[in-house]
Amino acid sequence: MPLPQYSLSAGLTQDFSGDITTSPFIRGLREPTPVSASALEESRVSPIIFAMTRRNTIIDCGDFKIRTLVKADADSLSANANDYEIWLNLRDRFPHPYTRKHALEWIDLVGKPGTRENPQVHFVIDVEGEAAGGIGLLMQTDVSRVGGELGYWLGKRFWGRGIMTRAIAGMTDWYFQNLPITRIYALVFDYNQPSARVLEKCGYTLEGRLKKAAIKEGKVVDELLYARVVPD
Ligand SMILES: CC(C)(COP(=O)(O)OP(=O)(O)OC[C@H]1O[C@@H](n2cnc3c(N)ncnc32)[C@H](O)[C@@H]1OP(=O)(O)O)[C@@H](O)C(=O)NCCC(=O)NCCS
Repeated sequence: MPLPQYSLSAGLTQDFSGDITTSPFIRGLREPTPVSASALEESRVSPIIFAMTRRNTIIDCGDFKIRTLVKADADSLSANANDYEIWLNLRDRFPHPYTRKHALEWIDLVGKPGTRENPQVHFVIDVEGEAAGGIGLLMQTDVSRVGGELGYWLGKRFWGRGIMTRAIAGMTDWYFQNLPITRIYALVFDYNQPSARVLEKCGYTLEGRLKKAAIKEGKVVDELLYARVVPD
């Protein structure tokens, strides 16, 4: 089955369009290219990430965009995130109820331009100007710093349109191209079949079932570990 396609959007300045159009990740999803050993060692990110995060739009998928969060997202972000069914599939640190104050705190935390040491990794999924969902990478530390844990959610009104499949496919490639990492993984509660399905559609491999690894709403559950790694 072909993997989902996406393309980079407008909003890029003249000076960077050359670099971006020659960058492989805009030509559609494919096997990620490993970052060089020296880049990994120095834990540096490519200059493209700075240019693109400054431009705000990361990926344009036509009927939606992935971009940096801005303060104006607070109302729609909180409206879409404030949902028990979404919370039930996420870690407890995702607030419920999800208020405008939570949205503003999150925007303040992650809506800043990236730096070399702290690249921007959390984005909003923008459907027709509405903050419909979120996608981000929790960078790992110490010897695991070559990896990141993927997190994502989408407002219920937008489910079932293939949005998250395209978002994860695009962002996985983007992260591999722009961060010094070799592995992206996601942990899915075993009852969350839609999320497992989306990861499979995006080329993630089920590496294992972590038995009784999490507790959600008082119930101990298994977690499914999915990952994509750069090729050897
Ligand atoms: C999981 C989630 C992100 C999916 O977003 P989405 O945009 O609706 O996903 P897509 O439309 O791209 O794909 C959904 C897939 O799941 C499938 N699916 C839906 N319900 C399903 C079920 N009960 N069992 C199995 N597959 C199911 C759909 O059929 C579709 O697969 P297909 O294209 O092969 O038919 C969204 O439901 C969500 O935000 N859930 C709550 C938060 C969450 O679970 N986050 C992930 C935590 S690990």
